Amino acid sequence: MAEAPKHPRPARASIPPKELSKLAVELFERFEVPINEFNRVLGGGIVPGSLILIGGEPGIGKSTLLLQASALIAKKHGKVVYVSGEETPNQIKLRAKRLGIEGEGLFLLAETDVDTLLGHAEELQPSLLIIDSIQTVHTQDDDGIPGSLTQVRQSAQRLMSWAKSSGVPVFVTGHVTKEGAIAGPRVLEHIVDVVLYLEGEQFSAYRLLRCVKNRFGSTNEIGVFEMKEKGLIEVENPSLAFLSQRQDEAVGSVVVPVIEGSRPLLVEIQALTNATSFGMPRRTANGVDFNRLLIITAVLSRRLGLKLGNQDIIVNVTGGLKIDEPAADLGIALAITSSYRDVSVDRGLAVVGEIGLSGELRAVPQLDRRIGEAARLGFKRILTPKAGGKISPLPKDIEILSFGSLREAVEKGLGGKITE
Ligand SMILES: Nc1ncnc2c1ncn2[C@@H]1O[C@H](COP(=O)(O)OP(=O)(O)O)[C@@H](O)[C@H]1O
Ligand SMILES: [Mg+2]
Repeated sequence: MAEAPKHPRPARASIPPKELSKLAVELFERFEVPINEFNRVLGGGIVPGSLILIGGEPGIGKSTLLLQASALIAKKHGKVVYVSGEETPNQIKLRAKRLGIEGEGLFLLAETDVDTLLGHAEELQPSLLIIDSIQTVHTQDDDGIPGSLTQVRQSAQRLMSWAKSSGVPVFVTGHVTKEGAIAGPRVLEHIVDVVLYLEGEQFSAYRLLRCVKNRFGSTNEIGVFEMKEKGLIEVENPSLAFLSQRQDEAVGSVVVPVIEGSRPLLVEIQALTNATSFGMPRRTANGVDFNRLLIITAVLSRRLGLKLGNQDIIVNVTGGLKIDEPAADLGIALAITSSYRDVSVDRGLAVVGEIGLSGELRAVPQLDRRIGEAARLGFKRILTPKAGGKISPLPKDIEILSFGSLREAVEKGLGGKITE
């Protein structure tokens, strides 16, 4: 008697492999979110059948942004179903009233059972489904409470397969903890097609919508909003907004053109040095990478002779932006030196450059666009690395000062010698 084969063939008909060269290019058809900053972060619109996660701390504005977007989408593209396990339809109505949203075509549903809510969505055939939040819904196949790892994963997978089979895009919101992880499940990030984060500082009205994963487009794009009475309002000129609170001749303040996604942005970096009162000197990095700060501090000590070993150092990026580009190195170094020396930096100066361990200035990508943005905002001079080639065409109204070493650049930035 023949034994049953160990690896039986799957019963379903399989799709034969296709040669890449024979495949036709099918562009993803996207539909536009009628909010430019939001649309840009998504890579130009919402891809049908995609599952999109918006993460953020409680109270940051996820529900507000989605309510605003869904009202506009309902008007432009047809029905939107907004499922909330967090607020009652009445609470949402109150918010809508404050935001000036009428809500034609926007259907509210207070339901936490995934299969039941998908049943309603099936009937309504909306252009978009919103689940606020993934931590409040659950499926019947699992005993875990809503918000538990298995429930979040199960629910997300159910929503994903529904999105793919129906072609209806689905947004889910997810709370993140102070440490930045989406509560419990990082797994969620692996399941969904697109991950967006809504970020902001506690006492700042600016909100940044950042894309960290996108199966249909580039990541790193950010959208800039301001939280107002009428909801999240797009910031049309983020550079201007980020610099709006800058003081004249402030010590320890430097402006740096960074590239976020596809556009240059000017940000203000502030540093404060202060004699350590006891024990180890402290380093605090808000908005810049902590290890990068340690490297820059080490280079300033060794190559420029600054005695930072008994100084606490705090570095801040205003507006709540997080910068991880090494192109901001020179700005951070100049801000620290400016504070340490108690000498202010010329208000018309912008600064860009990566720092190497031997104290050399290294080339940065897209230098011309950074210079262009600084010139556009009225900066008169910009410190740049010498390396990195010619800029053409040379912008007329900004003077480009190029340096090979950190020391020369910092001396120029502070208008004098810096050695002790
Ligand atoms: N009456 C109001 N006027 C202005 N802003 C408000 C008002 N009520 C709430 N907000 C703002 O909306 C935020 C709540 O946003 P919400 O969209 O509920 O956040 P999330 O869904 O991310 O938890 C609050 O933190 C507050 O800043
Ligand atoms: Mg909410």
